[in-house]
Amino acid sequence: MSSSSAVSEQRVLSGMRPTGSLHLGHYHGVLQNWVKLQHEYECFFFVADWHALTTHYEDPRVIEQSVWDMVIDWLAAGINPGSVTLFAQSQVPEHAELHLLLSMMTPLGWLERVPTYKDQQEQLKEKDLATYGFLGYPLLQSADILIYRAGHVPVGADQIAHVEMTREIARRFNHLYGREPGFEEFVEQAIAKMGKKNAKLYRKLLKSYQEKGDDEALQTAHALVRDQQNITLRDKERLHGFIEGSGKVILPEPQALLTPASKMPGLDGRKMSKSYHNTISMREAPESVDEKIRTMPTDPARVRRTDPGDPEKCPVWQWHEVYSDEKTLGWVKEGCTTAGIGCLDCKKPLIESVQTELEPMTQRAAEYINNPDLVKSIVAEGNEKAREAAKQTLEEVREAMGLAYR
Ligand code: TRP
Ligand code: SF4
Repeated sequence: MSSSSAVSEQRVLSGMRPTGSLHLGHYHGVLQNWVKLQHEYECFFFVADWHALTTHYEDPRVIEQSVWDMVIDWLAAGINPGSVTLFAQSQVPEHAELHLLLSMMTPLGWLERVPTYKDQQEQLKEKDLATYGFLGYPLLQSADILIYRAGHVPVGADQIAHVEMTREIARRFNHLYGREPGFEEFVEQAIAKMGKKNAKLYRKLLKSYQEKGDDEALQTAHALVRDQQNITLRDKERLHGFIEGSGKVILPEPQALLTPASKMPGLDGRKMSKSYHNTISMREAPESVDEKIRTMPTDPARVRRTDPGDPEKCPVWQWHEVYSDEKTLGWVKEGCTTAGIGCLDCKKPLIESVQTELEPMTQRAAEYINNPDLVKSIVAEGNEKAREAAKQTLEEVREAMGLAYR
C-alpha cells in the first residue's frame, strides 16, 4: 500500500468537460501545459463526462462523441498515452462513491458560496440548473481530485475556487476521520520505534512547528519520518498527521497549479470560444486556416492600404505575439505604422505559422480518427490504471470511517 503523503507530491490530476473537438485556445492554454507537465510529474488526465451531465442532463446522448473527439485532440496535441493515465470519469465509479461519502460531511453553505454556482446559473439561463447535481458540481470535482491524492491540480483561474474548496473538504475529512481510536497511543509507540535520538529530534521539531509555526521544522520533521527504515507505513502516516495536528492524513490537500492564461485570442480579438464563432480548430484544414486568417478583422481605423495602422488595436497583432519572432514582430510594427505593408502581407507569416503548427497534429488526429479502436483501448487501459489507484484510496477512506465491514 502506498503512503498518502508520499504519492501525492508527484501526482498531477486534471480534467476537462467533454466539449467535442478542441481549438487553438485550448491548445495554447491547457494542452501545451499538460504536455509539459507529463514530463515532470505522474499525470492523470481525464474526461469529466459526469460533469457534462450537470448541464446536459436533458440530452446526454451528445456526450459520447464529444468524449472521443476530445481525447483524439489530446493525443494529437502530444499527450503521450505511454506516460500519462488517460481515462473517463464515468468508467471509474469510485469517484461516485467518494462523492457520496463526502456529501455527508459537506456543509451546504460551502457549495452555495462557490462563485461559479450563481455565475453559471445566470449565464445559462435557458437551462434549469436548480438541481442537486449542479449544486454538487464542485464536490464531485473534489472527489475527482482527492481519490487520486493528487498533489497538484493544473486549472484555469475560474477553477481555483473549486480547488480551494477541495482543500477545505480534505481538511475536514482528515479532522473528522483521521483520528482512529487510540491514535495518541499509536503515535507514542511509533515515536518510540524511531529510536532515542530520532524520537527526541521529532519532538523538538514538532514543538518548533506547533509553537512557533516554524515551516522549516515542519519540512524537516516530515523528512525525518519519511527516512525512517524500521517503522511501518501506517505508523509513518500517523506521524505525518500528528505533525500537522490532524491525525492521520488520509486525503492530502492538493495545490492548484494555475495554468497561465492563453495569450491566444479568437479571430475577432475576443476570447476564443465556440459560442463566439471565432475559433480555429485543432483539426482545421490548411485552406480553411488561410481563409479564416485572411478575413480576420484588423485595426478598424486602417480603411485603405495607404492608411497607417496601430497594431495595439488589431487582433492580428495579438496573434503575431503568440507566433512570431522578434524580427517578424519588428517588421509588422514598422510596416503597419508606416503603411509600408498591407494587412494581407501582415497575415501571411501567421497563416504559415498556424498551418505549420497544425500539420503534425492533424496528421496524428487522422491516425486516431481512422482507428477508433486504438483510442478506445488507450482509454480502457487508463480506466483500469485509474481504478487501481482510486480503489486504494477508497479502501482507506472506508476504513477511516469505519465502513470497511463486509
Ligand atoms: N470543472 C473543470 C472545468 O470545468 C473540469 C474538472 C472536473 C476538473 N473535475 C476536475 C478539473 C478535477 C481539475 C480537477 O474545467
Ligand atoms: Fe493589423 Fe497587421 Fe493590418 Fe497592422 S498591418 S492593422 S497589425 S493586420
